[in-house]
Amino acid sequence: MANAWRTNHPWATVYDFLVESERVGHPLARLGAGTDFGLLWKAAEVIGELPAGSAVLDVPCGGGVALRGLRPGQGVRYVAADISDAMLERTRVAARERGLLDQLELVNADVASLPFDDATFDLVVSFTGLHCFPDVRGALAEIARVTRPGGRLSGSAVLTDAGLRHEPMRFAGRLMGLMGPGCSSTELQTWLVQDGFEAVALRRSGGITYFTARKT
Ligand SMILES: C[S@@+](CC[C@H](N)C(=O)[O-])C[C@H]1O[C@@H](n2cnc3c(N)ncnc32)[C@H](O)[C@@H]1O
Repeated sequence: MANAWRTNHPWATVYDFLVESERVGHPLARLGAGTDFGLLWKAAEVIGELPAGSAVLDVPCGGGVALRGLRPGQGVRYVAADISDAMLERTRVAARERGLLDQLELVNADVASLPFDDATFDLVVSFTGLHCFPDVRGALAEIARVTRPGGRLSGSAVLTDAGLRHEPMRFAGRLMGLMGPGCSSTELQTWLVQDGFEAVALRRSGGITYFTARKT
């Protein structure tokens, strides 16, 4: 079971450092996973395009890296959800530092059962998350359920067909209880379409694949 996150596993601190530090963390991620975390920062910019009154769900929010896409005074309802209280606290601190607290709602929630009505969100972001969940299929169905028609999804994940080079990372992640079974790029595309998404686009950066889609 990928539940080591609940108890603030040391990897959570290391991961947060890697993803937030452009000078040290990003080169290390490039070395270790052949991936460009700059793409995650870039992908988060979609949040800044939302008009006032929009609602965005960030699941799993982790330490709040996606907050860098939100602008102070944007007038957006930004719901950050995660199963780890420690990660939620990091997101709170990040939001305070960025002057975003007035737009932030923190929710301790399991992606398998999101405490939101159907079609609540104009945008769902799910960065570096799917491979951490015990049930990717169920997580995608929940994400689809809470996305409103016409709403967008942007995310990233370590997929099972990322290549042999990334198998040790997946093996270690599962051993530590930090990663679940994951899914392949074909499964991801198929499941997103089954869940009512269209315009599904995937882009691989080393061990991490970025994806976007729009709810019909
Ligand atoms: C690798 S971090 C990514 C966080 C953030 N999106 C980022 O890119 O930095 C994975 C996150 O997934 C969370 N997580 C793991 N299983 C979860 C679940 N079932 N429901 C919600 N969050 C979960 C962990 O607590 C952790 O914060």
